[in-house]
Amino acid sequence: MKMQAGTVMPTTTEVPLYLSETYWWAYVHPRAIHVFERQWLVNAILWGQFGRLRDLALDALGLEAPGRTLQVACVYGNLTAKLLKRAAPGSSLDVVDVLPLQLANLARKLPADSGANLIRCDASAMEFESASYDRALLFFLLHEMPEDVRKATIAHTLRVVKPGGRVVIVDYHRPSKLNPLFVPMAGILHTLEPFAHDLWRREITGWFPADVKVAGVQKTTYFGGLYQMLVITV
Ligand SMILES: C[S@@+](CC[C@H](N)C(=O)[O-])C[C@H]1O[C@@H](n2cnc3c(N)ncnc32)[C@H](O)[C@@H]1O
Repeated sequence: MKMQAGTVMPTTTEVPLYLSETYWWAYVHPRAIHVFERQWLVNAILWGQFGRLRDLALDALGLEAPGRTLQVACVYGNLTAKLLKRAAPGSSLDVVDVLPLQLANLARKLPADSGANLIRCDASAMEFESASYDRALLFFLLHEMPEDVRKATIAHTLRVVKPGGRVVIVDYHRPSKLNPLFVPMAGILHTLEPFAHDLWRREITGWFPADVKVAGVQKTTYFGGLYQMLVITV
């Protein structure tokens, strides 16, 4: 189901169980948006690093070249608006999310003539044509997913980006034990984000499909290793 920013959202597709059971408070409950849709709060949740990580991700996407961009999942705050501002003339943006509520919220945040296509679908079952995008962004999505969903989401994202195109992933990473946030973050993730510890245990490339060869992966960590960005050339 595809729509322009600012139009009415459909309400029929299933909500994955891990979202309704684990993340109902953050994304599924109608009050969630009233609570979390505040720039200062998303910044605080990322210990003041939201703006920095957002801008690094946008820099890495290569938006100065016109092309088709895929944002996999909505994000609270102004990531999509900033992405649209930086897109070269003649570019397009598709944003997928499995929750109509989140797509409706994103539509509200964007100008009605933004041109962004907001598409309801499950990231782990995207049906877009292979090699049809120039770049894709996964911003703090993978840590929220159970392993099988994460693997399928990565596989589909790599599949739909053209050879030579870029996939940018920003997410949690195991910090150094000397990082003063090591213990508090271990507790927060353990309590609220049960799948996130996977990213502390394993490299994201470990979930790439075995039969897919990528041309390059550049990994950088930030904030004492608490966050990572992967820039993948497909
Ligand atoms: C990008 S992630 C988290 C981003 C960040 N924590 C924030 O501030 O918004 C949150 C979004 O992922 C979406 N999402 C989770 N699992 C999904 C899936 N399997 N397919 C598509 N969207 C999904 C949720 O509906 C939610 O809108």
